[in-house]
Amino acid sequence: MSKTMSTCWFSHTKENMTDKTPPSKCPMHMLTRRSLFKAVGGLGLFAAGAASGVAAKNTSAAHGASTVAFRDKVQGGILTPQQAHTYFAAFDINTNSRDELIQILKDWTNASAEMTSGKLGDSALGLAPSRLTMTFGFGADVFSKGGKDRFGIGSQKPEALVDMPLFHGDQLIPEKTGGDISVQACSDDPQIAFHAIRQIVKLAGTKANIRWSQTAFVSGNGKETPRNLQGFKDGTQNPQASEMNQFVFVGGEGPAWFQGGTYLVTRRIRIALEHWDGMDVDYQEQVIGRHKLTGAPLGMKNEFDKADLKATNADGNLVIGEHSHLRLAAAESNGGSQILRRGYSYNDGSNFTAERWPPWRQGVEYDAGLFFVAYQKDPRDGFIRIFGNMAKFDMLNQFTTHVGSGMFAVPPGARDGEFIGQKLFA
Ligand code: HEM
Repeated sequence: MSKTMSTCWFSHTKENMTDKTPPSKCPMHMLTRRSLFKAVGGLGLFAAGAASGVAAKNTSAAHGASTVAFRDKVQGGILTPQQAHTYFAAFDINTNSRDELIQILKDWTNASAEMTSGKLGDSALGLAPSRLTMTFGFGADVFSKGGKDRFGIGSQKPEALVDMPLFHGDQLIPEKTGGDISVQACSDDPQIAFHAIRQIVKLAGTKANIRWSQTAFVSGNGKETPRNLQGFKDGTQNPQASEMNQFVFVGGEGPAWFQGGTYLVTRRIRIALEHWDGMDVDYQEQVIGRHKLTGAPLGMKNEFDKADLKATNADGNLVIGEHSHLRLAAAESNGGSQILRRGYSYNDGSNFTAERWPPWRQGVEYDAGLFFVAYQKDPRDGFIRIFGNMAKFDMLNQFTTHVGSGMFAVPPGARDGEFIGQKLFA
């Protein structure tokens, strides 16, 4: 994969924009330096950090060697234009010592600052960071596990770090759910993402272990919206740069240590591709509410055209069906709520299931789907609200099963001399 870093990561192309679409309306451009400053006037919570992070990626000519600043107001990997690969690990902390937890966080911070800057260490000799970012989050169990405040930080737990409700159809596996601390490595080189997590594991020794992990990827050339395993463009409709403080970053309503942070929700969602692949494209489009090739909302021509949820066809039926994914997930259907989705596809192999299925299913079940990753200002008003609306009625659910789940409070970035989450221990 070759991506030119001299211009904006995402460029307008005939496929993703019309000539009349202003750049400010293009989600692909929402993270450019100019639009960020314009959007928040340099005063917003995340303006400076995000802007310099984005600028950093544009400074290097060679794609592989390019770096994203680690020390910033906002952690990398949230607003960073999406890297092609991720390795996500949720850790359990095996010590009850506050000092030992602080030491782990210091070591992880220092290692992350080094690796993201290109000092990758011996086991990645000759490799380049390829826009490596490391993103850390705290699960509810860090604040209190089994009623015990292990690290003396229970009173600092952000209010919106709630227990995830069990949704209709959930089949969550404990081994793929929860965790004390999340560490997400993203890079354009899958080996670098894995390498980075391996260094994190090594540094923690026996004091922390991986509870669950997920490796995942996005397709495409990094310029257009990637296509998910169902073949649809995924990531079209996300908040604009000017809306980040409204929908993504925590302000004065959060505890002091968490201002400028955000909440991460992950879901490991298996997609029954063996079932999906037997559906014709017309039906698939009804399920999603968008055209498969262009990504345009049903009834529209271009990907970024606004969906008309009221439009009806000649028979008087809604063009974008009542139970389509788009309608149920849309801000208009959820009291205006929005989340920043940054999901990846995963493919963890397949099982052969013999003659149980009709011939077109060929006796295969894929362990593949969407590793859903979304950031929001308040999960109660974000993921929980939106998925609560979808869980029972979304046509997509006949193809999907949620098997893993995580919710983490992602603190602001660590500035020079600080470690991740330092203010939490002040
Ligand atoms: C395997 C599961 C899923 C698949 C394959 C999937 C796929 C898609 C696709 C293709 C789109 C349209 C393009 C776009 O705007 O990005 C979309 C939109 C969206 N999805 Fe999902 N999605 C899944 C699960 C979820 C879940 C669990 C949520 C939970 C909140 C969600 C929230 C949204 C939202 C908010 C939108 C934008 C809707 C709009 O305003 O137009 N999706 N998804």
